[in-house]
Amino acid sequence: MESRYPFQHSKIAAVLNRLHDAAKADKWKLARRAPLFLWSLLNKGEKNQRLMHLLFHDVYIPISKEQGALLYLIARAIHARRVVEFGSSFGISTIYLAAAVLDNMCSDGGTDAQVIGSELEPHKHAVATQNIQEAGLSDIAKILLGDAMQTFQTVEAPVDLVLLDGWKELYLPVVKLLQPKLRPGAVVMSDNIFTFKRALGPFLEYMQSGKNGFVSSTLKISDGFEFSVFQRPEH
Ligand SMILES: C[S@@+](CC[C@H](N)C(=O)[O-])C[C@H]1O[C@@H](n2cnc3c(N)ncnc32)[C@H](O)[C@@H]1O
Repeated sequence: MESRYPFQHSKIAAVLNRLHDAAKADKWKLARRAPLFLWSLLNKGEKNQRLMHLLFHDVYIPISKEQGALLYLIARAIHARRVVEFGSSFGISTIYLAAAVLDNMCSDGGTDAQVIGSELEPHKHAVATQNIQEAGLSDIAKILLGDAMQTFQTVEAPVDLVLLDGWKELYLPVVKLLQPKLRPGAVVMSDNIFTFKRALGPFLEYMQSGKNGFVSSTLKISDGFEFSVFQRPEH
């Protein structure tokens, strides 16, 4: 039996149910694009923005409900007030994170809380913004349009929680960009560790080596969810 959403807001749950249902069509869309995948493999993994757009412009490729519940519970446990998300797509993970930040504000008080998402594709950005509005979370969550390596330059400290779920070659540069803004005890959650184990090798080495301020382990949830805790500021 599927577990219930951990939060109480039925409006948010209704939007998430609609979006998770819509995301079930991803597999058919991606199956029809298999020849494009093959072409990119034959061209030595050729990856450019145009190809990535053709393959992924209208698919959700979201976190699972289980991952969403875990993100919500982590954000509640660490009293997260500022959350940064690399790769928002149509806003599913953004909504889980914003639900937690909203509930933190309700229980801890204050108004200074935000979820900062990021999305390259203008259409996804527009629809995600509508979805967040429909969930009643526009005051908390904003998705920045454009390359996160640029849009995250203005993110302020302290950051409590980061979700990494954009294109995999940027996990390491994005975490290095955000690291000076992480507060001690901040959590970084990173998706798709199993599928992209090889591409994410340098990132995993950075997070798990114990030399860069993180303690980190891969959870066997969905496609592998890296759970990293930042334990000291950089010198
Ligand atoms: C796996 S999906 C994200 C799914 C989302 N986290 C969810 O659970 O619904 C990855 C998204 O990251 C976006 N993305 C990839 N590279 C990016 C970048 N450099 N800056 C901003 N967004 C990026 C892609 O356009 C894509 O929509």
